[in-house]
Amino acid sequence: MATRIYIFDTTLRDGEQSPGASLNVAEKLEIAKQLERLGVDVIEAGFPISSPGDFQAVQEISRTVRGCTICGLTRAVEKDIDVAAEALREAAHPRIHTGLGVSDIHLKYKLRMSREAAMERGVQAVRHARRYVAEVEYFLEDSGRADRDYLCQVIEAVINAGASVINIPDTTGYSTPEEYGGLIRYVMEHVPNIDKAIVSVHCHDDLGLAVANSLAGIQNGARQIECTINGIGERAGNTSLEEVVMAIKVRADRYPFETGIVTQELYKTSRMVSTATGILVQPNKAIVGANAFAHSSGIHQDGVLKERTTYEIINPSDVGIQESKIILTARSGRHALQHRLRELGYECNEEQIDRIYARFLELADRKKQIYDEDLEILVANETSMLHR
Ligand code: KIV
Ligand code: ZN
Repeated sequence: MATRIYIFDTTLRDGEQSPGASLNVAEKLEIAKQLERLGVDVIEAGFPISSPGDFQAVQEISRTVRGCTICGLTRAVEKDIDVAAEALREAAHPRIHTGLGVSDIHLKYKLRMSREAAMERGVQAVRHARRYVAEVEYFLEDSGRADRDYLCQVIEAVINAGASVINIPDTTGYSTPEEYGGLIRYVMEHVPNIDKAIVSVHCHDDLGLAVANSLAGIQNGARQIECTINGIGERAGNTSLEEVVMAIKVRADRYPFETGIVTQELYKTSRMVSTATGILVQPNKAIVGANAFAHSSGIHQDGVLKERTTYEIINPSDVGIQESKIILTARSGRHALQHRLRELGYECNEEQIDRIYARFLELADRKKQIYDEDLEILVANETSMLHR
């Protein structure tokens, strides 16, 4: 049986850290309800101490969304934890996500703390959070650049203090899949009490490797993936939920895992997040981009019209997109043109299609794309054509 991977969605926290992507409470609540329909296991609803709006969003989501774990982020600071606990008070399944940096760069320049002091601060934060909730997740910021033995010591200590989920972020998106997978394996093999916790991957996309790194993480023992809709997030963003989930689903031969995601809800969720944040999805974005299921060249169009799987590895309906698109351009062949004409209700003989195709190519050389209205004009001259 496939091993279950938990999907931790942080669109409303790390995703909202995307430059320009601020959401109001009502928008966050609508997105959280959609994330529940999508089937995510955990919603990181915000960073409650950061602003009254974030506090309110976490509180409202905790009251309303009962089918997922609701998580609030904190620094390893008692006041943060107290405020997060209050925001999460009405949640059916609350989780506090606390933590601290572990790389020497973070310890020296940002935290100005020794390794020992940072470890002790982390342990105290976990103990404090456990007074409020049963589920505490601990993040070890900048794990990707940390000393591995120190990382393992901190993990062992925070598990002993009561953390049951261990988040190993590649905060700066610096790791390669081999390195990040190796890091997770190292933790699995060197932390004696690691079987008492779920290991979580949290990858950033600075080198475009966040999805690949997350997949390497689960192949090496991680069981939770932290990700965002459309991959939005700090700088270049986070692991894209739709990409990592579909990679697991489509390549079950490589990844013997399953998630609880209702993939047919992916496109709708992507549109909702894009509209609310104002962050457009790039057209060539995998899974949910406007061109993800659009075929433009004549050779591809001919193949897809004969048999969809010649050029499609995913059935568009599996991600909630009705059907793939054939884009009529100067590179389209006569087969694609005839197919569209039939869809519009026009039947034509070989001579007619030859004439229309010649005029179609002339027009397509002048315009980037040929639309149905253009086709209507092209066929208008062919009076004998049968309009079904
Ligand atoms: O990227 C990161 O390290 C984070 C932590 C706060 C979890 O977002
Ligand atoms: Zn992050």
